[in-house]
Amino acid sequence: MSHTAIVTGGGSGLGYATAMLLAEKGVQVVVVDIDEANGQKTVEDIEKKGVKAVFVKADVAKVEDVKQYVQVAKDTFGTIDYFFNNAGISGSGQPFLNTDVDEIEQIVGINMLGALYGMRFVAEEMVKNGGGSIVNTASSAGVIGQSTVVTYSATKHGIVGMTKSMVAEYAKDGLRVNAVAPGPTETPMVKKYFEANPQMKESAEQGIPQKRLGTPEEVAELVVFLLTSKAAYINGDVIRIDGGFTSTK
Ligand SMILES: NC(=O)c1ccc[n+]([C@@H]2O[C@H](COP(=O)([O-])OP(=O)(O)OC[C@H]3O[C@@H](n4cnc5c(N)ncnc54)[C@H](O)[C@@H]3O)[C@@H](O)[C@H]2O)c1
Repeated sequence: MSHTAIVTGGGSGLGYATAMLLAEKGVQVVVVDIDEANGQKTVEDIEKKGVKAVFVKADVAKVEDVKQYVQVAKDTFGTIDYFFNNAGISGSGQPFLNTDVDEIEQIVGINMLGALYGMRFVAEEMVKNGGGSIVNTASSAGVIGQSTVVTYSATKHGIVGMTKSMVAEYAKDGLRVNAVAPGPTETPMVKKYFEANPQMKESAEQGIPQKRLGTPEEVAELVVFLLTSKAAYINGDVIRIDGGFTSTK
């Protein structure tokens, strides 16, 4: 029987690349995104590979939307084996003391509450079914401190705490929960930003020992490895994938 995965933020970037790699391995995918056009496009691209997929338009910061994507996954495919808890936003990059409270609430709402709600309702299903595997998207900013990303960094450190504590509580029920901590990765969002600010790209690359950004496909390889039974004894870990960026800090 095919495995089933839920991928949040599946319409773009790391979520898109991971959804496509899962599909290549025959995994059915529930694509969750707030962006309907991009989410539907991911489903079409998966179906072109002859694999089943379904799109759920959801705002991960809204608990009713989260319950809805879990319900659609159950109704469509029966069980949930893998969960890539990934949707997130970065914020404006303003110094923290210039940041609007609205922006703080928005980043915390999507990156932290959204991930916690997903964890709450997907893990519940997995435990009922004897287990499953979850990968949360942290960031370099979840393992080191960086300027102009205070709120983002707070949420990504929160992702790391959630990952470790879930394992302490539910590994005995067959859950594996890990996190990936990518450095700057050339997703559409980042590409667009650097096209508008080429000097920023150069300085970002200079700060990375491998002197280049990561690619979504490289991160997807790690996520899919962690999700599947090849990583059966890796639990509660936070794997950095950043060309050596955080190793030098
Ligand atoms: N790109 C990087 O350099 C980088 C580095 C480290 C961590 N990350 C993290 O990776 C994750 C994915 O980012 P990405 O770079 O692929 O960005 P992206 O913008 O390319 O993709 C994010 C997707 O999430 C969706 N999304 C945003 N808010 C949502 C919401 N409220 N509900 C549902 N979907 C929502 C967007 O529509 C988009 O399709 C994020 O958690 C981000 O913080 C990215």
